[in-house]
Amino acid sequence: MHRFEYRGRELTCEDVPLSAIAKKVGTPFYLYSIGTFLDHYLKLKEAFKAANPLICFSVKANSNLTVLKALVKHGAGLDIVSGGELFRAKKVGVDPQKVVFASVGKSEAEIEAAIRARILMFNVESVQELDVINAVACRLKKTQKVAIRLNPDVQPHTHHYITTGSRENKFGLSLETAYKLFMESYRYPFLRFAGVHIHIGSQITDARPFVKAIKRVLKFVDSVRFGGNPVEYFNIGGGLGIIYSKEKPQTAKEFAAAILPLFKDHDLKHGLRIILEPGRFISGNSGILVTRVLYEKSSDSKSFLIVDAGMNDLIRPAFYGAHHEILPVWKVRGKSRRHSVDVVGPICESGDFLAKDRTLPVVGVGDLLAVMSCGAYGFVMSSNYNSRLRIPEVVVKGKRFFTARRRESFRDLIRNEKIVSEVI
Ligand code: LLP
Repeated sequence: MHRFEYRGRELTCEDVPLSAIAKKVGTPFYLYSIGTFLDHYLKLKEAFKAANPLICFSVKANSNLTVLKALVKHGAGLDIVSGGELFRAKKVGVDPQKVVFASVGKSEAEIEAAIRARILMFNVESVQELDVINAVACRLKKTQKVAIRLNPDVQPHTHHYITTGSRENKFGLSLETAYKLFMESYRYPFLRFAGVHIHIGSQITDARPFVKAIKRVLKFVDSVRFGGNPVEYFNIGGGLGIIYSKEKPQTAKEFAAAILPLFKDHDLKHGLRIILEPGRFISGNSGILVTRVLYEKSSDSKSFLIVDAGMNDLIRPAFYGAHHEILPVWKVRGKSRRHSVDVVGPICESGDFLAKDRTLPVVGVGDLLAVMSCGAYGFVMSSNYNSRLRIPEVVVKGKRFFTARRRESFRDLIRNEKIVSEVI
């Protein structure tokens, strides 16, 4: 459930009408319902209560500082993938022992910064990375926990750009390689092989691929424990799907009911702690993008609504062919006329669209549209393409709204540039 709904004719976020925000901050803008973020996080926490898991929100999905702080304040940890995300994690004061660091390409500088910050563990993706972490930990005279990311080779049936747990992906290590590493963990005196990690893909609506992968990896855990390695953590990654249109994803409760029984023996006998890294499940439906119609254009065969948000603001439709519902901020009175349109942005690319051949109520120039389910992989994937300014992120709690990130200025746009006179 999310907190964007019509009250009377107008779409609201929690208790705030959208037009009031548009009037204050201009368009386009991202809008987040903090109540929805917390609700989704707490639902997952409640569903997994029996296992007392560590829930690390995946910062890559939405890295807004206010959002992160709100989740952290309610007990969430963070899943990070870069020095920049570590910087954000530190800024919001998360307990570093609730931070896990994934990524196939961590640089030595990032590794050093994370060890210095005393993060809980790295999710390690290659043998060479283990050598680097060991060497840095040795130099810093620290012991560092690591989890080995395993590639369980399952097909999660989602968009091929966001499957990550099958053999042909670049992620993780095969069970055979990982087994060898665990058996030779003595070769890494500054590392503690504390866990295993999987992440099989994103927007997975069905628990079965998770179950399959977890079963496989639990067998692996048993075998390395048998070999004398205490494995304390099983990080089951993120990937829980949400409703964009007609999907029927598992609920947090259903997911937990499918997953928790698999851990029963391990949990009770040996204390294997579960870690989750949800991004989209918490943030996807907690945010929207609000845009204004600039122009309408029709030919014999096609109608276009040209809006002020483009693919630089929301790249998911262009990049993944992703579907986002589009709602008029003001519901059209009575039985509205509907027609098929392409909702497109101002960018000089044919791929610049938010929706194609979408049946929408007839709206006019100046009207506001809400592009739904944009709280995950929305703003974070935005860019300055076409020298467009990145747009504000506005947060709502109850009756109040605040700008959590202001609209960029032209000055911001050229902040790191100079005209190099020597070459002119
Ligand atoms: N953990 C790891 C190791 C990941 O790679 C990801 C996402 C997550 C957790 C969080 O996954 P989630 O719960 O959000 O599915 N830009 C794409 C999604 C890319 C996902 C990358 N990895 C999109 O817009 O659909």
